[in-house]
Amino acid sequence: MKILVTGGAGFVGSHTVDALIEKGHTVRILDNLDPQVHGPSGNKPVYLNKEAEFINGDIRNEADVKNALDGVQVVFHLAALVGVGQSMYDIKRYVEVNSLGGAILLDQLANGKHSVEKVVVASSMSIYGEGAYSCRNCGKVYPRLRTPEQLKERSWDVCCPICGLDVEAIPVSEDKPLYPTSIYAVTKRDHEEMFLSVGNSYKIPTVALRYFNIYGTRQSISNPYTGVAAIFLSRILNNNRPLIFEDGLQSRDFIHVSDLVKANIIAMEKSEADYNVFNVGTGRNLSVLDIANILIKRLNVDLEPEIVNKFREGDIRHCFADASKIETELGFRADVTFESGLDDLIEWAKVTDSDDQVEKATQELAAKGLTW
Ligand code: UD1
Repeated sequence: MKILVTGGAGFVGSHTVDALIEKGHTVRILDNLDPQVHGPSGNKPVYLNKEAEFINGDIRNEADVKNALDGVQVVFHLAALVGVGQSMYDIKRYVEVNSLGGAILLDQLANGKHSVEKVVVASSMSIYGEGAYSCRNCGKVYPRLRTPEQLKERSWDVCCPICGLDVEAIPVSEDKPLYPTSIYAVTKRDHEEMFLSVGNSYKIPTVALRYFNIYGTRQSISNPYTGVAAIFLSRILNNNRPLIFEDGLQSRDFIHVSDLVKANIIAMEKSEADYNVFNVGTGRNLSVLDIANILIKRLNVDLEPEIVNKFREGDIRHCFADASKIETELGFRADVTFESGLDDLIEWAKVTDSDDQVEKATQELAAKGLTW
């Protein structure tokens, strides 16, 4: 099959491209080589699969998108800006690239001549907002964000929205109400809902995958708006202490990119996935402090994480996947543990540019009042 991967030069995209080529597909990439991710040179990343056709173009440019869709049967829409914090002050650009970029692609599917038979779109766990919790009085509850009053008192844990008692984090299933809390998350919900709506209306089988926190090789290490594992690695490799917001006990579900790519392929191949949404996570949660400590230990450095006891605007406390739907319906299960998946991220970080830009990003967020 001929497959288009938007954002195919990026972290998830390039791994997906490799897996598709490995399976014998013909792959075309549409990517604008965003300097924040790929550096200022404008060159293609060295890891990019030579067998893929590469279009240097923008998802916001109708002609580029039209050109990229020519003769294609499957589309992976992975092109997006991904910095949660940055999306809170670079609002127009995030909405343009993510929401409008998605709309431009969908316009072609609705109005242009095309041969697309399947679309897989990257959604995100961030659309859930705060995760799911269990209260011993009220059962399963879905709290909203913690209040500024509570956070100012440095009281980090989530309380039951009904009775106010302490609650325990539980896995989040796909039926949880969506409470996106950042511009990034709003645009990811847009992706999911816009793509499923157009897919349903025009009978183009479409699947939205809610990725949890991804890590692995080719993750941008010097982009300060990348995920926490890569940020900490960059800090440590530059002999700086990882900066930990809150008390470090907030947790996420870290999935290795190789597992995520497997889920992408299964979602493409299985018609049981059509017109549906799936969590793509491991079902296990790790705290941010665990992440820092595992990395410090693994790199054998004499550093302590610095707990800054501050809040990053829009952050949630806990979110990890209930991974049972994708396992039952599509037969997918993540099998790489964080400890074993980390090795290749470390090897990658050593050979790639790992300027520690975190200080600058932290200052930018603070100057905008987005950390306090
Ligand atoms: C991340 C992704 C988002 C993706 C989602 C699900 C980024 C920037 N965000 O969101 O695109 O949709 O996972 O895959 O990649 N933290 C620190 N110190 C730091 C940086 C972060 O303590 O230097 C903390 C944060 O406050 C937060 C946690 O680490 O509590 C996770 O942050 P982050 O890696 O940015 O991920 P998400 O916000 O969960």
